[in-house]
Amino acid sequence: MSDVYIVGAGETKFGELWEKSLRELAVEAGLRAIENAGVFSREVEALYGSNSLAGIINGQENIGALLSDFSGIAENHIPAIRIEASTASGGAAVRQAYMAIKSGEYDLVMVGGVEKMTDVYGSEILDLTSSVLDREWEAFFGATPAALAAISARKYMTDFKVEKDALAMMSINDHLNASKNPDAQYKNKLKLEQALNATPVAEPLNLMDCSPVSDGAAAILVASEKYVKKNKLDGVKILSSADAQDYLAVHSRKSLYTLESAKVASRKALDRANLKIDDISFAEIHDSYSIYGLMELEDLGFAEKGKAKDMVYEDIKLDGRIPINPSGGLKAKGNPLGATGVGQFVEAYRQVKGKAGERQVKDPKYAMLHNMGGTGSMSVVHIVGGE
Ligand code: COA
Repeated sequence: MSDVYIVGAGETKFGELWEKSLRELAVEAGLRAIENAGVFSREVEALYGSNSLAGIINGQENIGALLSDFSGIAENHIPAIRIEASTASGGAAVRQAYMAIKSGEYDLVMVGGVEKMTDVYGSEILDLTSSVLDREWEAFFGATPAALAAISARKYMTDFKVEKDALAMMSINDHLNASKNPDAQYKNKLKLEQALNATPVAEPLNLMDCSPVSDGAAAILVASEKYVKKNKLDGVKILSSADAQDYLAVHSRKSLYTLESAKVASRKALDRANLKIDDISFAEIHDSYSIYGLMELEDLGFAEKGKAKDMVYEDIKLDGRIPINPSGGLKAKGNPLGATGVGQFVEAYRQVKGKAGERQVKDPKYAMLHNMGGTGSMSVVHIVGGE
């Protein structure tokens, strides 16, 4: 089976991008990836489009055809398919491309993720994002993603005697890294006092514990070893790919603060790459809420359960033991759902190639990327880098 390489990556800025439509964002990211790779778009054999909520936010379905048409490749008649796996759509789309290349079906595939969330009012987007939950058993009774994250946070903080500072440190780290990322939504550095005293959203979580509502797009080109060699490209290897599912509703899960999907996907991805967690040089994780950052550090394997609080003051910094979210993460780079997971690959590609500018991590050999669906109903973990 062929090895799989990322050969180009590009993204738009993430943020409130009033002047750009869903399709314009997608095309901008796609063209940047093509330009970055230095390949011809006519050579792309399949397009996987990642998007979570365009149907209900923008009234636009048939995303595969939209992306193919407005990228100017419709006349090539290649398959163009939308992958929807809630907020893990990006990781899931890359995994489909990875498997398609590994199987030998294609040699060059484009994965593009896009979301345009700011076209509706704040109160409306809360309801629309709640559609990633169990509508009948969670959202119907008034639970939102923030409320469910808050329930996990309360139980976690009580059981492990964790103070609010530890949650705030995840956001502070994201904001500091995002201040060095030109594509990030929030580039302001955050002080502990600001993080602790922000407007309450769902106690104990406040505004600075929440990822924002974002527009944005990201794209990568994934290629076979044969294509890389033939075209003398300098790719970054996708060493392994794994995904896992958990119960949709939080109340059905074994524990309120354990992400079983992340545990399983991380273990599988490490096994498949023949690596141990200590081999990982940096990680992009899915901290849509600060509490998930702590839970993921534990469930992905970086810390024991209840001990992530010991990592958040030093270890996770850009120059720490295991830099977390050099891009600025979901909290500060932004969280345009369908683009978020693909954006993690854009960051990893730049980091592994040593082209991440001011936020470059030292010795960026192996990156772990975790893209999560909703409150943890799905996890997709990839490991990229090596050699
Ligand atoms: N972090 C930092 N600042 C934020 C922010 C965030 N998450 N969200 C909004 N802001 C800022 C805005 O930039 C704005 O600043 P300004 O006054 O200087 O322009 C201010 O706060 C008010 O913005 P507004 O859009 O009115 O905020 P809001 O109260 O409507 O929304 C949240 C705040 C937390 C409810 C919203 O960001 C949210 O829903 N986030 C979660 C998204 C989500 O669930 N994603 C999916 C996960 S499954």
